[in-house]
Amino acid sequence: MVYISRKEFFNAAHKLYNPAWTKEENEECFGPCANEYFHGHNFELTVTVVGTPNPMTGFVIDLKKLGHLMKTLIIDKIDHRNLNMDVDFLKGKMTSCENLVKEFWDILALPISTNSTGKLYKITLQETHKNYVEYFGE
Ligand code: NI
Repeated sequence: MVYISRKEFFNAAHKLYNPAWTKEENEECFGPCANEYFHGHNFELTVTVVGTPNPMTGFVIDLKKLGHLMKTLIIDKIDHRNLNMDVDFLKGKMTSCENLVKEFWDILALPISTNSTGKLYKITLQETHKNYVEYFGE
């Protein structure tokens, strides 16, 4: 099996804020991430596909095609947006990296299966130089 990855980039604003809690409770849990007027990150999104190379092309997935799927299905909907307010598939959800990768997985898994010899293996979302999450679909 071969693991192949594509990285794309986006900038977005968000805040971590649970509306069921008081302002003080939110600040205690989320610190400056609960800032009322939001804050931004330069995110790096890496999608990894696993499979056996197609003997005709040598590809598990055409990386141009994977980049196109990531861009049209995800990046175009979140880049330069407010994740809490502008994005349909995040409405009413906490915009943590943990939740973001799960939503991205649900969007990408099927189109990747139909456009590759394998399947989606991992989604990695780097939020800062120090912090990133990985999701393997379960
Ligand atoms: Ni943040």
